[in-house]
Amino acid sequence: MAASWSPDKMPNLNGKVAVITGASSGIGLHTAKNLASKGAKVYFTARTEKKAKETVDFILAQDPTIRPEQLIWVELELASLESVVKAVEEIKKVEDRIHILINNGGTGGGAKLQQTKEGWEFGMVVFHIAHFTLTNGLLPLLKKAASEPGSDVRIITVASSASRIFFPPGYQFNFTSPEFLGGQLPSESLLWRLTKRVFSVDMMIYGMAKLAATMFITELQKRLDEQGVPILCLNPDPGAVKTNNSDKTFTGLMNSAIGMVQKGPEKGCYNSLFAATAAEVTHSPEVYKGKYFEPIGKVVQLPVLDDEGQLKGMWEHTSTATNKYLAEHGLPQLLDW
Ligand SMILES: NC(=O)c1ccc[n+]([C@@H]2O[C@H](COP(=O)([O-])OP(=O)(O)OC[C@H]3O[C@@H](n4cnc5c(N)ncnc54)[C@H](OP(=O)(O)O)[C@@H]3O)[C@@H](O)[C@H]2O)c1
Repeated sequence: MAASWSPDKMPNLNGKVAVITGASSGIGLHTAKNLASKGAKVYFTARTEKKAKETVDFILAQDPTIRPEQLIWVELELASLESVVKAVEEIKKVEDRIHILINNGGTGGGAKLQQTKEGWEFGMVVFHIAHFTLTNGLLPLLKKAASEPGSDVRIITVASSASRIFFPPGYQFNFTSPEFLGGQLPSESLLWRLTKRVFSVDMMIYGMAKLAATMFITELQKRLDEQGVPILCLNPDPGAVKTNNSDKTFTGLMNSAIGMVQKGPEKGCYNSLFAATAAEVTHSPEVYKGKYFEPIGKVVQLPVLDDEGQLKGMWEHTSTATNKYLAEHGLPQLLDW
């Protein structure tokens, strides 16, 4: 049963190569630790060498059976596509196959709408555009691993319930216009208007960036299925987890109150690990692939994921804007998917 799943049910991952973004704290740190505990070679990203070293020290102290060479730091600043392209090149120099990619990293964004000079909303870059570009660059390695007999290759993007809770059924999204990249919300929901005072982050803007990343998983799955590539694309929401990120989400007293019901990142990583490794997913791919699911393995239907027009809009506007940026900065264009 998925609901009672825990990492002791993870299969042996010897010989598997995993890449995970944002593993220097919280959910990513514990996800990386569990993957390495099961034998995977884990390329983990952190923004500084100091954080990378702390990450390795923490993981090795938690599980002395992990060999230091299983943990390889890749420098990555998700707010910079230059850094994303560099990270892809670095991994491609030393690996030709990847079995698990976990797009986890990022912060919740600011209290106000923050835009880059391209007019992109900051969280949209970190959670969506950067991971879109990273996945595109690493896809040939994932496809190569998927071409091996008996392969089990998975692309995971960590979701958030903010993409669901603050957007009521029937909400009119605007992914058919490039304005979504700038964090332009079509409208504020009633729930958000009633609750925004207890948040220190704009949860609708954050939720929209995370939703674009969720839609990417759904649309990527469709495209890989059309090509007959046996890769599973999955979108686990970790639930409410006490981390650096979540500590910046609520205002004062509310933060302390919520802290009492949040789980720690030791358990907050379970849904990501389920997505990345659980046998249930391989046994019932039709249940999970391209889907958003809450802990653990509980698929929740988001109407926008069935809306061809919105999915196509998200994909085309993201591709166009990303390629424009890459061209203007002398970086290689996105690969064919
Ligand atoms: N916590 C929750 O309740 C919750 C709920 C739903 C979804 N999530 C999702 O879970 C994922 C992990 O978050 P978390 O709660 O574990 O938070 P966290 O402890 O703050 O971890 C975030 C990780 O992402 C890295 N990161 C942040 N901004 C980055 C950037 N611009 N470039 C590169 N790396 C960056 C952080 O690195 P640094 O150490 O350098 O900052 C850290 O390793 C996120 O995608 C978040 O949206 C969390």
